Amino acid sequence: MKFPRTRMRRLRSDDFIRRLTAESSLSPNDLLWPLFVHDGNKSSPVPAMAEVFRLCADDLWRQAERALILGIPAVALFPVIPPENKTPQGEEALNDNGLIPRLIGEMKKKFPELGVMADVALDPYTSHGHDGVRDDKGRVLNDETVEILARQATVLAVAGADIVAPSDMMDGRIAAVRDALEAAGLNNTKILSYAAKYASVYYGPFRDAVGSTGSLGGKDKRGYQMNPANRKEAIAEMRLDLDEGADMLLVKPGLPYLDIISDAANAFEAPILAYQVSGEYAMLNAAGEAGCFDKNAAMMKSLLAFKRAGACAVLSYFAPQAAALLRN
Ligand code: PBG
Repeated sequence: MKFPRTRMRRLRSDDFIRRLTAESSLSPNDLLWPLFVHDGNKSSPVPAMAEVFRLCADDLWRQAERALILGIPAVALFPVIPPENKTPQGEEALNDNGLIPRLIGEMKKKFPELGVMADVALDPYTSHGHDGVRDDKGRVLNDETVEILARQATVLAVAGADIVAPSDMMDGRIAAVRDALEAAGLNNTKILSYAAKYASVYYGPFRDAVGSTGSLGGKDKRGYQMNPANRKEAIAEMRLDLDEGADMLLVKPGLPYLDIISDAANAFEAPILAYQVSGEYAMLNAAGEAGCFDKNAAMMKSLLAFKRAGACAVLSYFAPQAAALLRN
């Protein structure tokens, strides 16, 4: 049917009909909130990330309470490890009395209903800033790293992590993590695999936050993170991780990779999550502050785009701001 019998604008004329015919929507339930934590007794601001802090324990409890009040289902914890505790093998990652296991344990006691996710990767713990251990030529070793990651995931799950999230991009790590969890009797721990994680300049503010920028010393992670030119390869990565036992898949970065989210949502039944990473957060804030647009409107639009593309949830540093707006 052609114009004028079909007028696409009819369904855009008023607020009620726009709401009634919306194909996607955003709710606090769609948000997973990444938080940086450190061992200090005072929180310190993260450069380039307005309103984001490396939290001390007391402030972490405050933010956890805030998450519950705002209806955010879960938080993800990222550690800031002091340089003196970093080693080439990242041994601190296996310390069951380390920062993250201690905080997870306390968190699950204080706020049992708040989901807690923990990253599985060695970069916060290695003196060279890579996600795994290296050979003498500086190449990241796959199988040796996978063995350590499986132990790290077990430490995190024993401490009480509801979701473990391997973000390292080694081959075969999901199977190793799943087997280790089952062997330890941890059959309800969920694995969110960072399945399609691209090598990206957008991780800059995060690396500054956890102090791995300096450790990396100008080196990049292209030897294990995906090539931004590739699309089909993401499907191969995701299929492998599902076969290996992942419960959920993640695409990262977020907004520049909506095509990958869409492909994934069409190809798999498993929940697809997106990570709106630190650089995306910084960009939107910077443009908002420069007066280019209304920051809140841009934030809400960016988050809705993930839902439209097919993501079931989004990791975002905007989680509390967005949830607060959604509740009003
Ligand atoms: C590390 C990890 C990174 C992020 C999450 N986990 C950085 C990296 O791979 O170098 C980035 C998140 C962000 O930029 O917000 N395994």
